[in-house]
Amino acid sequence: MSLERVYEPIRKDMERVETGLRSIYKNAPPRLSGILEHSLGAGGKKVRPALVFLSGSFYRHNPDRLLSMALAVEVLHTATLVHDDAIDNSAVRRGRETINKAWGLDKAILIGDYLLAEAEELTMATENLPVIGLFAHTIKAIASAEICQSQDAFRPDLTREQYIERIAGKTASLLSLATESGARLSEAPLEAVRGLREYGYNLGIAFQIVDDVLDFIGVEEDIGKPVGSDLAEGTITLPSMLLMEHYPVDNPVRRLCENAGDRNDNIRQAIGMFRDSPFVDECYGVAMKYRDRSLHSLEVLPEGDLRTSLKELAAYVLSRKR
Ligand code: IPE
Ligand code: IPE
Ligand code: MG
Ligand code: MG
Repeated sequence: MSLERVYEPIRKDMERVETGLRSIYKNAPPRLSGILEHSLGAGGKKVRPALVFLSGSFYRHNPDRLLSMALAVEVLHTATLVHDDAIDNSAVRRGRETINKAWGLDKAILIGDYLLAEAEELTMATENLPVIGLFAHTIKAIASAEICQSQDAFRPDLTREQYIERIAGKTASLLSLATESGARLSEAPLEAVRGLREYGYNLGIAFQIVDDVLDFIGVEEDIGKPVGSDLAEGTITLPSMLLMEHYPVDNPVRRLCENAGDRNDNIRQAIGMFRDSPFVDECYGVAMKYRDRSLHSLEVLPEGDLRTSLKELAAYVLSRKR
């Protein structure tokens, strides 16, 4: 399943997203332009803006307002990545040096702030108060979840419930902002708004579970970011939870948390134990459960190209390698 095919019904809209992102860095103050281009112009899959357009196009809508919101979610997403990389001291993102690596931590914090404000202005341009409220609520959900994640670093006792709650905040909240805002900016009936919100939420959970698996079994050139970075930061995710459940004694993840033995050896061992183990399928099984929920939510929507694309996007999320 290719993203190009999924985006086919909104191809023109997605071209406008590219142009819109370009004009953000081209029209920025000259000293910021280069650093903004580095983050906004680095590619990325553009899943979130596509979700705004796919969700917002079922019913009558104003295309300019959808475009503003599509840009807002991509810019907000980029802001969270800039801050996330600064917090994690990551060196590579979207196959390029991160802002913190290339320009330093202070610039990364400030560029992240600038992007947050840019996203807010774009959301304001929709002139839709509930959507503006949702936008603010989403930033709070992401920040809260990232704080919990950092407080829980190197703590092996994370429950499944806490894990899902965390990824709901840091990732699903933004995907459901994309789908719900798209729906609300169109004349979608309440039932469709609800369906699209649920679809985005469950897709987001599946998306993050797959991201957490790729952090163990992915290839750096494909994912555009380092492998093993979650363990390096002490972030416990579904793969390491399964390793600890199935090997309660003598476990590299536990050793890592207890600061016993060599850190890099523990990370390498954990990755080695997970790759080619049945736990990979077990993780995908959990992701599939959320994918199925997302598919179920689409049933309230009219059949056609858009609904087919949303279904294909759910399939893509499970099969993605990048
Ligand atoms: C990365 O998101 C952060 C997560 C929520 C896992 P994407 O995988 O959508 O990143 P880009 O935009 O394609 O780089
Ligand atoms: C990121 O999740 C979600 C954000 C809110 C930024 P990850 O920490 O897994 O994202 P990557 O793997 O660095 O892209
Ligand atoms: Mg990260
Ligand atoms: Mg990750």
